[in-house]
Amino acid sequence: MEKENVKKGKKLMKIFLDTANRELIKSWIPTGVINGVTTNPSLLSKEDPDVKSVLKDICDIVKGDVSIEVVEKEPEKVYKQAIQISKLAKNVVVKIPFSREYLPVISQLTKEGVKINVTLIFSLVQALLVAKLGVKYISPFIGRWDDIDVDGINLIQDLVIMQENYGFESKILAASIRNVIHLQKSILIGADVATIPPTLLDKVFNHPLTLQGIDKFDADWKKLGKKNLFD
Ligand code: E4P
Repeated sequence: MEKENVKKGKKLMKIFLDTANRELIKSWIPTGVINGVTTNPSLLSKEDPDVKSVLKDICDIVKGDVSIEVVEKEPEKVYKQAIQISKLAKNVVVKIPFSREYLPVISQLTKEGVKINVTLIFSLVQALLVAKLGVKYISPFIGRWDDIDVDGINLIQDLVIMQENYGFESKILAASIRNVIHLQKSILIGADVATIPPTLLDKVFNHPLTLQGIDKFDADWKKLGKKNLFD
């Protein structure tokens, strides 16, 4: 895990992996830059149908928070399932979609100390309402706004301003990140967390100038004809 590398009162953006694929998650852990994982029913549908084992394994692999989404619909059942999910592991965060009928459930769960991530946030007012309930994460979706030709990044900007205005402790978790520009803007705006699909994180390592630079240094070193640096 990364060392604390920030001045007092400051924080570096956390990086979560947006996947339920255990092998991919395992492969990223040694990099030391992954702080958590977010899953959702669509991501789980691509994995082993033994959902409980998949989720338990992810909670073991990752030290940080792992968001697991409820799939029940009725508020009472959502509450019961949230409790069940929260008992799966210490690092579980229960993900609940934004909905008026779930606000009493979320309110009750936060009072009981259950960590909540409210998902499918598409407006500032939605975010304010769940911040008032003391949820741990608020997940504004960028890419799905872009899908309908609206610049989704503005929502992240608005939420950060609201967080600065009121000083609430809920973390802004930039979600539905589809490209490197979404990620760069989330960093510049100051989102607390970005959840990133592993395929996108891979792209960061494929910068042509970095790759060319590595090849050039290697070619020049070989010109010296030495076996080791200090021979
Ligand atoms: C994460 O919490 C979200 O479920 C995820 O980022 C959604 O991304 P998508 O809009 O690309 O499906």
